[in-house]
Amino acid sequence: MTARLPLVVVLTIVALACATVWTQPAPSAIDWTAHGADAGHRQYSPAAQLTPANVARLQVAWTYRTGDARPDGRSQMQCNPIVIDGVLYATSAQLKVFALDAATGRQRWVFDPLAVAGPDKAAAVGVSRGLTYWAEGDDRRIFMAAGPWLYALHAGTGQPIPTFGEAGRINLQQDLDRDTTGLSVLSNTPGAIYKDLLIVGSKVSEGPGAAAPGHIRAYDVRSGRRRWIFHTIPHPAEPGHETWPADAWQRIGGANAWSGISVDHERGLVFLPTGSAAFDFWGGNRAGANLYANSLLALDAATGRRVWHFQFVHHDLWDRDLPTAPILGTVTHQGRRVDVVMQATKTGELFVFDRATGTSLFPIEERPVPPSTLEGEVPWPTQPASTLPAFSRQVFTSEMVTRRTPEARAAVLAKIAGARMGHKWHPPSEQGTVIFPGFDGGAEWGGQAFDPERGVFYVNSNDMAWITHMIAVDRSRETSQVAQGRRQYQINCAGCHGIDRQGDAQHIYPSLQGVAQKLPRAAVHDLLVQGRGVMPAFKQLTAEQRAQIVAYLFGDEPIPGARTPDEGLAEIPYTFGGYTRLVDPDGYPGITPPWGQLTAIDVGNGTILWQVPLGDRPEARAADAPPTGTENYGGPAITAGGLLFIGATNDEKFRAFDLRSGKVLWETSLPAGGYATPATYVVDGRQYVVIAAGGGKMGTKSSDAYVAYALPR
Ligand code: HEC
Repeated sequence: MTARLPLVVVLTIVALACATVWTQPAPSAIDWTAHGADAGHRQYSPAAQLTPANVARLQVAWTYRTGDARPDGRSQMQCNPIVIDGVLYATSAQLKVFALDAATGRQRWVFDPLAVAGPDKAAAVGVSRGLTYWAEGDDRRIFMAAGPWLYALHAGTGQPIPTFGEAGRINLQQDLDRDTTGLSVLSNTPGAIYKDLLIVGSKVSEGPGAAAPGHIRAYDVRSGRRRWIFHTIPHPAEPGHETWPADAWQRIGGANAWSGISVDHERGLVFLPTGSAAFDFWGGNRAGANLYANSLLALDAATGRRVWHFQFVHHDLWDRDLPTAPILGTVTHQGRRVDVVMQATKTGELFVFDRATGTSLFPIEERPVPPSTLEGEVPWPTQPASTLPAFSRQVFTSEMVTRRTPEARAAVLAKIAGARMGHKWHPPSEQGTVIFPGFDGGAEWGGQAFDPERGVFYVNSNDMAWITHMIAVDRSRETSQVAQGRRQYQINCAGCHGIDRQGDAQHIYPSLQGVAQKLPRAAVHDLLVQGRGVMPAFKQLTAEQRAQIVAYLFGDEPIPGARTPDEGLAEIPYTFGGYTRLVDPDGYPGITPPWGQLTAIDVGNGTILWQVPLGDRPEARAADAPPTGTENYGGPAITAGGLLFIGATNDEKFRAFDLRSGKVLWETSLPAGGYATPATYVVDGRQYVVIAAGGGKMGTKSSDAYVAYALPR
């Protein structure tokens, strides 16, 4: 009798044999485990089912609607979803957290922080760039921040874990080793895990008013207890304290890590990029280099002790925060394999350091910078420059003013007449300073991708010029309520809403000129206490100060005030005229294209492999001209299959590029701009790529759609 194997077994054996001989067996599941894909923020997936050969056949696999986009176009979704064991976790337009079946988009649960926060509407202020996952055995947690609150949720149910903090949440405004009552402390970008620690940065105010310090904290993932703190504005006797006025640690804010955290688990190091000290644009009250603002910090992840740091901008006057998570990778440099940390900047440069020592792989030059024309301001005499090729143009000149139409060119030339420009580090000034690349970079918060196979770094960037004016605060002795309100407005509100209350050209910051006709006084009072969307709360102002501002906004008659003007106001003599893009009268960038680019850099050799425009406004160029590129927000996700996926552009498209050539292989229109970083993952052998199409930036509409794409079955 011959042993007969059933036919299906035979076929399986043959299939397996073929698979091992001709191809790698494709894994049936690949997750995207963290904001930026992994602990090193590589935005890379080993998934290889999608390739340059088949990507043109991508179709929508599912669409999930969060149901809470704002019809006024003021909501955004900047979330890079995470995918764990076939479940996708992400956040909605109004900061709800949800879990979906990653293969079908079917909802498993939703958690609404407003539902537990009760009347505290500040719980939904800010945006959310993602979530953090931690698990040990059956204890699986999702950490999310909304407003000042950091929640620990049960990953299976979305319910807060009662033993964490107070009833499942902790308040990020507390535990900063300083009285920060009423000051805004949020966390838009998720924290990172090291063992049983959740390490978090923060977003704090950067205006001329009071601001919280950006100290970095590690919390016990189980209890929510603070385990360590690193003072980014050092306390007395801590190294770096000497780079500030002696009392700065008690009164200066900022130097916060808002853009993403990477962890080297093997070395036990955590890498944190920090932003500028507050006030962003005038530092006369914070003389010195201001460590550890604008720095890449390598800390001992277990204790928070500093191992090394590098400061990218000394005594920042340009809001040159480090805008993106550092990326961990390994490259071949001068014949040697080196574990590196890569940091891209708003100035459009890449810096590469040996991860263990902080030694730069390429020379960094300290170059002299121009002086300030503002009273009381002494800029640091030099700033560091990377000697790697930059991925954005570096200096704006009148040669680069738009040539789209003669009228556009004339209008932009008129806007920059008399402004300081022609050097990357002209400090802000009363006559106007062109900031280039713009305030948002260069590189920005969507992050970059690193291909571990080929040692290549992929960065999308903006080539936008912005212009800003500093304005002397009214320091008259006038004591009427309205006059004091105007001063308070200049200090607290003008940076966003404009010195004349005109708002900004892209309608991100509404005009307040007609506010008396539009809103009742009580609504404005409420808004100042609660905040809304990306407008922060102003709880640190006294009720009297808020009333003064409202009196000013509503054009009240000047009633003589009982008090003399607050002497504290005189400390910062300038306010900021606004985050103003240099645009032409039709709203197009005031600079020649490309307005947005995608660049591939061979990190070990320090060379650019290719650079292409990202996005297109065909109506703004000649038919035979190359794509214009567009301003863009949200980063790339890359795959072992050789693809780079990116939305980001304000033409509201989603594209796949060939990693090797930079060629666009596929593009599709999204329900709204995909101003977020996509994620790609495999469930049951099928590869998906998903992006939040939340819109709501650059004057484009909002939406509530997460769209996932896959090859047809
Ligand atoms: C960081 C930028 C920023 C600052 C600073 C800021 N705002 Fe706003 N403000 C916004 C944004 C964005 C909105 C739209 C909020 C929304 O609806 O999502 C807004 C909305 C408002 C509105 C409602 C306008 C309308 O048409 O509905 C008022 C009133 C207002 N702000 C007043 C103020 C005052 C007064 C201050 C200073 C105490 C201030 N804002 C400071 C960004 C800012």
